[in-house]
Amino acid sequence: MQDTMQKLVALCKRRGFVFPSSEIYGGFANSYTYGPYGSQLKKNIKDLWWKTFVQNRADMVGIDGPIILHPKLWEASGHVGGFNDAMVDCKQCKKRFRADHVIEEATGKDLEGEIEKMQETLVTEKIKCKACGSSNWSEVRLFNQMFKTEMNTTGDGGEDVAYLRPETAGAIFIEFKNVIDSSRVKVPFGIAQIGKAFRNEIVAGNFIFRLREFEQMEIEYFIDPELEWEETFDNWLDMQEEFAIALGAKKEDLRRYEHAPEKLSHYSKKTIDIEYKFPFGGFKELFGLAHRSDFDLGVHAKASGQKLEYFDAKNNRRFVPHVIEPTFGLDRSILVSLLAAYTEEEIEGGSRIVMKFPKNMAPVQIAVFPLLKNKPDLVGKAKEVFDMLKNTFTCEFDDNGNVGKRYRRQDEIGTPYCITIDFDTLEDETVTVRDRDTMEQVRVKVGELKSYLQKEF
Ligand code: GAP
Repeated sequence: MQDTMQKLVALCKRRGFVFPSSEIYGGFANSYTYGPYGSQLKKNIKDLWWKTFVQNRADMVGIDGPIILHPKLWEASGHVGGFNDAMVDCKQCKKRFRADHVIEEATGKDLEGEIEKMQETLVTEKIKCKACGSSNWSEVRLFNQMFKTEMNTTGDGGEDVAYLRPETAGAIFIEFKNVIDSSRVKVPFGIAQIGKAFRNEIVAGNFIFRLREFEQMEIEYFIDPELEWEETFDNWLDMQEEFAIALGAKKEDLRRYEHAPEKLSHYSKKTIDIEYKFPFGGFKELFGLAHRSDFDLGVHAKASGQKLEYFDAKNNRRFVPHVIEPTFGLDRSILVSLLAAYTEEEIEGGSRIVMKFPKNMAPVQIAVFPLLKNKPDLVGKAKEVFDMLKNTFTCEFDDNGNVGKRYRRQDEIGTPYCITIDFDTLEDETVTVRDRDTMEQVRVKVGELKSYLQKEF
């Protein structure tokens, strides 16, 4: 199965989805650039998310906050003191690991957060280093994941510590009051945000699965603490699963993993992860859903001295809402979309790789080809067709190589329809439309092309 990842990573580079970043300087570990098609795929996923959870709902609004926020926010939220992972070094080969991951991979036991037990288990179960095979471990110790930076806020050269946000959620909580004061939201309502987050992960890896700089799409959904919340919670789980399916994931590759009550943070009533069956190590977290009670509004109210309450005018009641938090990793969404789309097929006379993205998710929706690039009539007509479609669909004009090669390339990009302008077009105003999945070709009149394609999408 690791083979699948290698093939996918190679395709991503070859076709401009994802490049290892800073290559001309020898590369920079676990840092990636979304290329021409990857950045469009990323935008399509963000747009679908925003449309689904903000634009199409009356109970949701969006914000776009800064990456560097007041450091007091991260002290109050507990991140500065407690956003730690357990790290362990192999004394033999000097490789560094996340201790809970080493143990889970070797024994299946989830000991996250239990430092002493981890230390004990490494010894009693004689767990081997997966890099060199020895069992010579260092102490398990905590490592804070916050990315620190310095800001010259006073102008006198004295620098203050600031942090790059480790999650987008923080900005939502501290703007709670501004949002309720400036918009017409009424509990229950949600605030959504998409943006970068930074974590100094001990071990990043598995391509874009675990990064130090990544993007999240998060919602804080504020509810009345007096009312039952289970149905709202379950609805969000269903919506998260539907979103994964809209990315292309098969239902059987998704599962729900409920965190054991003793593993929950003291403020959480329930946490469930939506996991995806990745080709490396099986089911792993894709999205998360947590009931966070009034913890966040509570700690920020206390630390800031501001009231972070909601006034229910209908019932003349003032209360601190509880919050349900559906969180979606954007890079993991992209990875699922790429993995689910990747298909190798035997076809007449050989084989092909085709990215079977859901049509509305494909980075290029329509490719337009003149049959021959040295025939001005064909090129001119193809440009006309391209111009006619480009406002409605994401289009690409391609006149390189023979048409067969262009099909292979567009299959690897995942383009649902290729349109070829040939000599017949000049006679009868029809073009060939080729379907990515069936490879069938039909002739469509240029005048009817737009409505034909609109129906197909
Ligand atoms: N506000 C809640 C929160 O941040 P989380 O489970 O730590 O929860 C949410 O992160 C999502 O962000 C995860 O489900 C995952 O998709 C994504 N994520 C977390 N750490 C990541 C990393 N290092 N690289 C890529 N994605 C990550």
